[in-house]
Amino acid sequence: MRFSNPSSSSMLLLFTVFVACFLATSADFNRDAEITWGQGRGKVLEGGRASTLSLDQYSGSGFQSRNEYIYGRFDTQLKLVPGNSAGTVTTFFLSSQGQGHDEIDFEFLGNSSGDPYTVHTNVYAQGKGDKEQQFRLWFDPTAAFHTYSIVWNPQRIIFLVDNIPIRVFNNHEAIGTPFPKRQPMRVYASLWNADDWATQGGRVKTDWTKAPFVATYRNFNIYSSKPSDSLNGNQAWQTQELDSNGRNRLRWVQQKYMIYNYCTDFKRFPQGIPAECKRSRF
Ligand SMILES: *[C@@H]1O[C@H](CO)[C@@H](O)[C@H](O)[C@H]1NC(C)=O
Repeated sequence: MRFSNPSSSSMLLLFTVFVACFLATSADFNRDAEITWGQGRGKVLEGGRASTLSLDQYSGSGFQSRNEYIYGRFDTQLKLVPGNSAGTVTTFFLSSQGQGHDEIDFEFLGNSSGDPYTVHTNVYAQGKGDKEQQFRLWFDPTAAFHTYSIVWNPQRIIFLVDNIPIRVFNNHEAIGTPFPKRQPMRVYASLWNADDWATQGGRVKTDWTKAPFVATYRNFNIYSSKPSDSLNGNQAWQTQELDSNGRNRLRWVQQKYMIYNYCTDFKRFPQGIPAECKRSRF
């Protein structure tokens, strides 16, 4: 292509500047996060664009964001431990610190080769969790990168996989259900051994002859208004809710891929299921 026409070359320049600004919102593992444990088992690669966490018999590893956030959208692409990942747990979550903490969790429970991962989600507010929903995925999460996102705004928390909503946890403070909103949270990711409970309820143990186990994170993105304005980027998360297409997709996931829902676990709540479960699911 030739850009002899001055207006098209200035258009190209404008476009380049625009793309550069857009890319600058992308979080960088060196700038925005730090490997906090695992003595070298966690690594930052590709100049900050990717990170690998590994687990062996002696330790797992993890990273966390340098900043804390109140509300935002938190994305990562993730390729999970392939092959026999039984006993391993890979996580991507938000958490505040101290007593009565808030937490929003994505946990990926590994499995024997050929058996499916379980995606475990939970929400803690003021120290109280017990709001688990678990899912299967509609693809092999070890074969390629997929995007996992947490949207957290004052009205709701949305868990997304490849931009498809798998769970919405609405703010039901009006009926007395605590909702995370006052405590700033950091983003955390980890790979650790949980073979006492993770796979088939702890019956299948980690096969250490397959170690080290490795999970790869990339395209880590934080969109939040606080504390760093440089990460503003896309603001849609602030009021994000499901439109009718989103509600259809959520229904599809919940009907076909949900394997556990605390709201229907009547044995666990003999006094009656939690109040927020009786409200609309969306
Ligand atoms: C592992 O696979 C088994 C058999 O398909 C399944 O029952 C179980 O839920 C899977 N996930 C975990 C984490 O155990």
